[in-house]
Amino acid sequence: MASPLAFSLLAFLVFSSLASIAEAYDSLDPNGNITIKWDIIQWTPDGYVAVVTMYNYQQYRHIQSPGWNLGWTWAKKEVIWSMVGAQTTEQGDCSKFKGNIPHCCKKTPTIVDLLPGTPYNMQIANCCKGGVISSWVQDPANAASSFQLSAGLAGTSKKTVRAPKNFTLRAPGPGYTCGPAKDVSPSTFLTSDGRRKTHALSKDMEHYLYILPVSCTEDPYMLYSPYLAYAVNDPSKSSYAPLVQCTSHMCPIRVHWHVKLNYKDYWRVKIAITNFNYRMNYTQWNLVIQHPNFDNLTQLFSFNYRSIAPYGDINDTAMLWGVKYYNDLLMEAGPYGNAQSELLFRKEPSFTFEKGWAFPRRVYFNGDNCVMPPPDAYPWLPNSSPRLRFPSFVLMVVLWAALALSLIHHL
Ligand SMILES: *[C@@H]1O[C@H](CO)[C@@H](O)[C@H](O)[C@H]1NC(C)=O
Ligand SMILES: *[C@@H]1O[C@H](CO)[C@@H](O)[C@H](O)[C@H]1NC(C)=O
Ligand SMILES: *[C@@H]1O[C@H](CO)[C@@H](O)[C@H](O)[C@H]1NC(C)=O
Ligand SMILES: *[C@@H]1O[C@H](CO)[C@@H](O)[C@H](O)[C@H]1NC(C)=O
Ligand SMILES: *[C@@H]1O[C@H](CO)[C@@H](O)[C@H](O)[C@H]1NC(C)=O
Repeated sequence: MASPLAFSLLAFLVFSSLASIAEAYDSLDPNGNITIKWDIIQWTPDGYVAVVTMYNYQQYRHIQSPGWNLGWTWAKKEVIWSMVGAQTTEQGDCSKFKGNIPHCCKKTPTIVDLLPGTPYNMQIANCCKGGVISSWVQDPANAASSFQLSAGLAGTSKKTVRAPKNFTLRAPGPGYTCGPAKDVSPSTFLTSDGRRKTHALSKDMEHYLYILPVSCTEDPYMLYSPYLAYAVNDPSKSSYAPLVQCTSHMCPIRVHWHVKLNYKDYWRVKIAITNFNYRMNYTQWNLVIQHPNFDNLTQLFSFNYRSIAPYGDINDTAMLWGVKYYNDLLMEAGPYGNAQSELLFRKEPSFTFEKGWAFPRRVYFNGDNCVMPPPDAYPWLPNSSPRLRFPSFVLMVVLWAALALSLIHHL
């Protein structure tokens, strides 16, 4: 099948529709965005062939399994004759076509990625990763996802082609403005190739993000309280909901920041991440930690590090992630469900352990905000939100950072 490069000489880049999916503003990644590029690489008798690429320009948020789900509204009466490297979830009403039937006739198609292992003749470069897209800091080679489509009834020149409108992106996890959750009437329609069966999951999943502000207390470590819930409206798909080991907190992830040693000129922190979820192996996990002393980070053991200095001059935010083939896989709950590192910081003259200064201002795990819940807030029950429509399949994901201080004075 045609690869984009094969036609690049023709330079039929008529429009490059750059649709940035605005997400909730993240002060640690103020320019983070996902950009969708729509490149026309060839004209056809009734339309064109385009390569659509999503670039994940977010520093630390990746799109994790079960992957992205992209939609748009056609500007005219376009149809999709064929796709390579992805497919639509539904064919729509193609009854006016005889003989040669399009892949999809919907005005608002929904596209999902194919899985790894897709036959080569159905692939293009950057496709077929099950909808997973890495963040560009952690794995730039896998921070884009592409597919190719052949659009019909679409206009066959720069003048007659119209860009699709109203791109929507749905992906697991927080951060994307997904548009209002809509009622999805379960469809029994199946195309001959059983498309709904294989990929219906992405379409029928609705994502909610709840950010419940915590009333400010004296506790300097409680800055955020995001409660993330996935509502899955089909019991067979609830396997993505976490199954969490029984603990006093019932959270799937704990990030432990432990001030371990206090030297004259340095201080040393141990970070331990523990996975309490039996249903999740986190591949390519990452942490983002904000602490003013990252400017004076002197040594770091067994994690990768990158300063993500969101404002250039203030170097207080670090992204940490596992070393490939060593600890980049955070295994399901159990003996291997943890990863750890130690950090050595040089003390500033004004250094103090008072007022919680030794603790991070923010901790994100895979882009989800970790908080330290007040002790009387757990065990935390998931049924307190009135917006949940499918309570029996809803499990709340609460990420939190447990912070412990034990100072050994070596002065
Ligand atoms: C998206 O991010 C890229 C990379 O940081 C940047 O070049 C581009 O300007 C951003 N786009 C928008 C609309 O913010
Ligand atoms: C795109 O979305 C806007 C705002 O929701 C709406 O007013 C407009 O009609 C939509 N356009 C199309 C072509 O669906
Ligand atoms: C996690 O990975 C291990 C080893 O590959 C595998 O045995 C286990 O089933 C995986 N668990 C999940 C939830 O995918
Ligand atoms: C931030 O500080 C660390 C540790 O001193 C240094 O390695 C890194 O280059 C700095 N980054 C920026 C953007 O200044
Ligand atoms: C810590 O980093 C800041 C900014 O780079 C620098 O001004 C300061 O001298 C450093 N402190 C120590 C003790 O190295």
